[in-house]
Amino acid sequence: MDLRDVPCGPGRLPVLGHGWKIWRDPVQFMVDLASVGKIARVDIGNLVVYVITDFELLHRVLVENSDAYERGLLFERIRLIFGESLIVADGQQHRDLRRMLQPAFHRTELESYAHVIKRNADALASSWQPGQIVEARSVLLDLVIANLLGSMFSHEPDTEELQLISGLIEDIGAGAIVGSVLPKRVASLPLPVNRKFLSAGTQLREYCQGLLVARRNSGDRRNDLIDILLNSSDDGSRSDKFLAEQAVTILFGGIDASTAMLTWALYELSQRPEVASKLQQEISAAGDLSPRGLDQLDYLNRFLNEVTRIHSPLLQTRRSVTTVELDGFTFPAGTDIGYSIAAIHRNPHIFADPNTFDPDRWSASRSGAKCRSFVPFSMGNQMCIGNNYSWMALQTTLHSLLSKWEFQPVTTKKLPRAMGPIPVMGRLPLEVRPVSV
Ligand code: HEM
Repeated sequence: MDLRDVPCGPGRLPVLGHGWKIWRDPVQFMVDLASVGKIARVDIGNLVVYVITDFELLHRVLVENSDAYERGLLFERIRLIFGESLIVADGQQHRDLRRMLQPAFHRTELESYAHVIKRNADALASSWQPGQIVEARSVLLDLVIANLLGSMFSHEPDTEELQLISGLIEDIGAGAIVGSVLPKRVASLPLPVNRKFLSAGTQLREYCQGLLVARRNSGDRRNDLIDILLNSSDDGSRSDKFLAEQAVTILFGGIDASTAMLTWALYELSQRPEVASKLQQEISAAGDLSPRGLDQLDYLNRFLNEVTRIHSPLLQTRRSVTTVELDGFTFPAGTDIGYSIAAIHRNPHIFADPNTFDPDRWSASRSGAKCRSFVPFSMGNQMCIGNNYSWMALQTTLHSLLSKWEFQPVTTKKLPRAMGPIPVMGRLPLEVRPVSV
């Protein structure tokens, strides 16, 4: 079969026809693609992307045959500001950068990071008053930024820095998504979204470069990400700009998805008093725990599995560098391929009743075969480098917040969604009440 025979149908998406569907309900759009087949064609304006919604097919692309692909569409745009850093690199360059940065994510480092994260989350929990309405997404965004800077950069940002960085991250995120789907000639015009994107990228790199230079000049050594970057260029072989690009990659890579996951976690708790109460009972019965002890909290981990299953990355991209065959179809080099973890995680053949939020589907007796297809951090050599860090940060943060507070919804209105790799509401007002267990 050749490319023209690739199935169309609900997966075919002319921008002036059904293009709005992907923006109106992006998760459902991806889930519906699975009914077209294991791979479905999606047209967005002039772009044609073949989206994989089947786990085994995806395994072939990301794990068994990964050399046949490079990063693709979404990464072209962010390469403009991330240069040749880990998140955009391919092949040997990617392997070298991954090896260089991996020690910052080592288990022993995670333990010391956990103390920073616990301190920040405890301070946030202590700052609230009973009955207070908190805008969860923005406080969690600030918390995630402070956690990443405090742990991996050994730096405590002040309020102004938090404001600056959260604004820059929003501008980069919006510009990255819009720019990826615009025709090339429009994506390079000096439109406000493009100018903000490039300027935010430069400012974030300069911010990280400032932290690197300050550390070098101070002579301090902290054994964190900054030290790893500085040590990698002891002989001055790498420019400060290059080192700062790697730091930006980690900061940017970590903020958006972590904020989305924590926001969804509090949202789910506010909607499900029975889940919140079970979780709070487990936390209160366990008392104070070391970072490793959090792995023993069975219900907390089941809850997090379910949050990360049901709220997963929507679309990642690759591009074939050679002719490839997928599910009986032949694609030439240069074909844009997409994959949707959200669609795989909501596939009813893998997860029964997939749209139901049910932490108990992860009980030891029931989880079995699901685990292989549960890939919130993707798989293969370009899977998330921050997976263990994220899990520890999610556990630690929820443990601290839930030790003190319950979260109540304050509105029944549908909350507007923000753009991002994991779709999430732009704001989430919640009332905090002292725990009653
Ligand atoms: C719950 C939170 C997170 C989720 C769901 C998540 C998800 C992902 C996914 C699916 C990918 C693969 C993208 C692809 O196939 O192209 C990825 C890559 C990446 N993530 Fe995460 N991530 C999370 C948190 C973090 C954190 C906390 C960091 C950093 C501290 C981070 C840094 C990165 C980087 C640098 C990459 C690129 C890795 C490479 O290409 O080698 N992520 N993430």
